[in-house]
Amino acid sequence: MDLELDGRRTLVTGSSSGIGEGIARVLAREGCKVVVHGRHRERAEKVAAEIGAAGVALGDLSTDAGAQRVHEQAVAALGGPIEILVNNAGGSSTDSTTRPPLDVKIEEWLDSYNGNTLSSVRLALLAAPSMVEAGWGRLIQISSAVSLQPNGLGPDYSGAKAALNNFTVSLAGSLRNSGVTVNTVTPGVIMMDSLLQWGRAQFGDAGMSVADVTRHMAEAGIFELPPAGRLGTPDDIAHAVCMLASPRAGFVTGSNYRVDGGQVRAVL
Ligand SMILES: NC(=O)c1ccc[n+]([C@@H]2O[C@H](COP(=O)([O-])OP(=O)(O)OC[C@H]3O[C@@H](n4cnc5c(N)ncnc54)[C@H](OP(=O)(O)O)[C@@H]3O)[C@@H](O)[C@H]2O)c1
Repeated sequence: MDLELDGRRTLVTGSSSGIGEGIARVLAREGCKVVVHGRHRERAEKVAAEIGAAGVALGDLSTDAGAQRVHEQAVAALGGPIEILVNNAGGSSTDSTTRPPLDVKIEEWLDSYNGNTLSSVRLALLAAPSMVEAGWGRLIQISSAVSLQPNGLGPDYSGAKAALNNFTVSLAGSLRNSGVTVNTVTPGVIMMDSLLQWGRAQFGDAGMSVADVTRHMAEAGIFELPPAGRLGTPDDIAHAVCMLASPRAGFVTGSNYRVDGGQVRAVL
């Protein structure tokens, strides 16, 4: 199927590494004109060169001024307003994800909300008006399985991502009949390079395969293997993002797509 993404002006936040890098790579391969974003020039420029991106936008999305600068750089590099915004930047900025609710400080809640919810809200506020004016646009937020099924640790992170899911539905409703869709993609545990290296070190075999590292981790109780029988990859998330970014997904808005191998046991 032709996803009709050729030449679409796209910003993927947090695409200097990890899942965002995977999303930027796949969208670029599908023909999008992509701007790579991160806080560190060297990392962002490396990815941008590898995928033939239109440019880079640098800045911290946890401040209004930083988000403003990122938006301006992206529009300049793209040569026009953003048509597809993938709000991927975020993560657990502290080690609170290993601690139960009563051990997480208010400052950590504020950091998580700022870095995972407001970072996306800021860019949505900056990018959505021109999408509405053009009569077409795509806003896609990257959430987390713990937003739907908290695991009892790091409530600041799971709560911040839950607020992001909620924002998607509000924004989709308010942008009704505008040609602009707003959706969430919710990853389960993703086998990142850092997790793979950690696992290999943990189990004492630098050459251990992804499948064996995953099995050892599951046996050690580090996570429960989802029904798909493996952990996710950045490409798994990128493919769902491509589908939602496509003009062919014009009737999909306000949705939350779980791309988690069946990790979340919920009927929704
Ligand atoms: N990995 C998983 O298993 C998993 C599972 C569920 C959901 N997620 C979500 O998926 C998204 C990507 O996670 P990841 O694991 O790929 O993380 P990652 O490898 O640490 O990459 C995070 C990216 O976001 C950028 N970033 C983070 N905070 C930022 C800020 N305040 N301002 C600007 N840029 C910022 C980083 O830029 P720098 O290069 O400058 O650091 C980097 O490009 C996050 O929203 C995360 O919550 C991840």
